[in-house]
Amino acid sequence: MSHSPAPPDVPGRLTAAAGRPLEGRITVPGDKSISHRALMLAALAVGRTGVEGLLEGEDVLRTAAAMRALGARVERLGPGTWQVDGVGLGGLAEPEDVLDMGNAGTGSRLLMGILAGHDLTAFLTGDASLRRRPMNRVMAPLAQMGATFAARSGGRLPLMVQGASPPMPITYRLPVASAQVKSAVLFAGLSAPGTTTVIEPEPTRDHSERMLRHFGARIAVEDRTDGRHVVLTGQPELVAGDLVVPGDPSSAAFPVVAALLVPGSEVTVARVGTNDLRCGLYTTLREMGADLAFVDPREEGGEPIADLVVRASRLKGVEVPPDRAPAMIDEYPVLAVAAAFAEGTTVMRGLGELKVKESDRLAATARGLVACGVKVEVGDDWLIVHGQERVPGGALVETEMDHRIAMAFLVMGLAAQQPVAIDDDAMIATSFPAFTDLMRGLGADLRRV
Ligand code: S3P
Repeated sequence: MSHSPAPPDVPGRLTAAAGRPLEGRITVPGDKSISHRALMLAALAVGRTGVEGLLEGEDVLRTAAAMRALGARVERLGPGTWQVDGVGLGGLAEPEDVLDMGNAGTGSRLLMGILAGHDLTAFLTGDASLRRRPMNRVMAPLAQMGATFAARSGGRLPLMVQGASPPMPITYRLPVASAQVKSAVLFAGLSAPGTTTVIEPEPTRDHSERMLRHFGARIAVEDRTDGRHVVLTGQPELVAGDLVVPGDPSSAAFPVVAALLVPGSEVTVARVGTNDLRCGLYTTLREMGADLAFVDPREEGGEPIADLVVRASRLKGVEVPPDRAPAMIDEYPVLAVAAAFAEGTTVMRGLGELKVKESDRLAATARGLVACGVKVEVGDDWLIVHGQERVPGGALVETEMDHRIAMAFLVMGLAAQQPVAIDDDAMIATSFPAFTDLMRGLGADLRRV
């Protein structure tokens, strides 16, 4: 693939340019995965749950609106501070209108699990990106449990779900490593009599399991030769209990990589979730030679957290083990940006799932890198990035309605020879509304050009 320089000169486009070192201490917003689950499970619990540190990104606000439409009282008391009065398992009401989940794949798929276990009919839709994403992966097991669906061709939104009452408990072996599918089956299994088992060939993020326990469900996890068995006892009494949401390691990834790449930088990102099943990027960056420390490790709200202290580092290319993909699935775009500046070649395999994220992230990442003058090779489920000390940049990158592509290439612009602009920054608000302000606070040159 070749490089055709296209200086970012279109007015109003968010543009990142190299400048002074990044310095300071920040906190990133609450974890997106945990925030969705907090609102959903609190709505199913009996009593009042207070949530601190909730992500107020658009994706999570869609989930809040959906849970309200289903009859729970969901209130914002202050920044990040929310309160949910749950209706109890089985107590959700049929929504009067279509539930618009915006850009949120996690919100839609987890909610489909909950709806599948309730005696109601609901309709879901979303934005153009979400309407392209496959929902078959959740509809298949949920239909086995007794729910009925009618969706557009290819199992895409808008769709109708008619819940089963009660759903059947099943044992389901995940055909793809997906925490969303696992969680949807478990959430439907809450309403099923008996035990619902999900077998994961490769462990995926376990926020649902941790939070189900927090609300009083019985859930056993056992590693066997054929994978991890997650066994939920159905029809528990879910009881309200306050929650604290840690900072999102997937959001922290952007200031962390920026600090590694901009010479002379030193940044602390406080209270970031360090759940092993989310931290594949940080393991990889350390293997690449990153000066990155987890300081003051502690626990908050049933999840491990730490302060991440990162200093600019000269990185070297590595081969990322494919079995690490579930623990860093959302971080490949920004890892690829880091790899572009590394000495040598970085090989990433097992990336098939990247093609069904908010965009085809494999293609979008490769295209963006090429536009910035980076040499890449890309295949059906792999990406090879050839690093170089000076990355030209000087491109306008297409973000394809994908917040992580947008943020990854702004990070690229902070370290490239020429500024990098993105075509659309609106989607950043789905997961990291304060991104631009926080990065500017660290000294980043982000401006509209
Ligand atoms: C998520 C799981 C992952 C991840 C997404 C959040 C979750 O998706 O990409 O951003 O909260 O369960 P998959 O389950 O499709 O891998």
